[in-house]
Amino acid sequence: MKKLVVLLLVVALIVGMTACTTAKKVDIGIVLPTKDEPRWVQDEARFKEALKGTDYSVEILFSQGSSAKEKENVDALIAKGIKVLIICPHDGGAAAAAIEAAKKEGIKVIAYDRLITDTDAVDFYVTFDSIAVGEAQAKYLVSKAHGTGNSLYLYAGAASDNNAFLFFEGAWNILQPKIADGTFAIKNSSEAVALQGKAKLSRDEMGKIIGQVTTNWDFNEAKNKAEAHLTSATAADKGNVFILAPNDGTARAIADAFATDTAVLSYTVTGQDAEKASVQYIIDEKQAMTVFKDVRTLVKDSIEMAVSILGGKDPQTTGSYNNGKIDVKAKQTEVIVVNVDNVRAALIDSGYYPASDFTGLQ
Ligand code: BGC
Repeated sequence: MKKLVVLLLVVALIVGMTACTTAKKVDIGIVLPTKDEPRWVQDEARFKEALKGTDYSVEILFSQGSSAKEKENVDALIAKGIKVLIICPHDGGAAAAAIEAAKKEGIKVIAYDRLITDTDAVDFYVTFDSIAVGEAQAKYLVSKAHGTGNSLYLYAGAASDNNAFLFFEGAWNILQPKIADGTFAIKNSSEAVALQGKAKLSRDEMGKIIGQVTTNWDFNEAKNKAEAHLTSATAADKGNVFILAPNDGTARAIADAFATDTAVLSYTVTGQDAEKASVQYIIDEKQAMTVFKDVRTLVKDSIEMAVSILGGKDPQTTGSYNNGKIDVKAKQTEVIVVNVDNVRAALIDSGYYPASDFTGLQ
């Protein structure tokens, strides 16, 4: 009996040791929100490109639009011994629980593209200038509108994404004076109409409008909303219309809905991300513009931050963002407006996409 116990103990020890030596240690964990949107698949590809030849071990996981899955991913990475977590949250508020668990283990957390809100567990933030994104979209609409009473349809991102507020705030900065002076007339949001006299909106006020015109970053929701708006709009509310669409995926869905309505004579629709499908839409003049966010820069910035942290140094930052609880040190990147006139220069000549991915490119 004694011998058997000893034997079992030895076996257990060997199994334990093998497990220890084979369990892969990971230095940097990266968690992205979903594979269902080309934007984040693009980020994954750019991370892989940038990480070729690195001495650090890195693992990238996707949360598939679920905060529960996101928490599981973070826990799995914590168990693998990560020192730095780079995370783009599915839901900026809900992600706090996941990163607080990481913080407890001494892991440094970098919020990637989307801020994680109402927690002190986020150490750094790498982001594009999201206010500038919304401003660029709105400026484009303004530049194409002539006369007064132009029909304006507003759409927004998911309210669980802090960026949706920043994009909307930027757009409102530019659109509101042009609504006040009669250039535009809002057609699809009673909340926006009720607030159209106010130059600066509180987060709650923006929340009311976003609550009405959210796409939840979902193509189907965007399409269904656009169709419902067109059904309830009169012919006079159609004609030549202007559409603030928050990103490329929703822009294409909304554009397709407006394109099938015979009372819509023309539509000018904005976008964001320079997704390949939208670049083709721009070449085909089915989407007016996009805001190009060079993901290579964001990837580079976040890896440089992680490497600084791993080397015991202070990462470089350019400012800070308040997340409702603390000021998070941030590194911010500019954005580039792309339309049919500069699509080649901005996206092909810059080496971002090969020309062969598109047809009809001038
Ligand atoms: C990102 C956009 C993206 C959107 C939907 C935002 O937080 O900044 O680039 O289109 O989420 O995924």
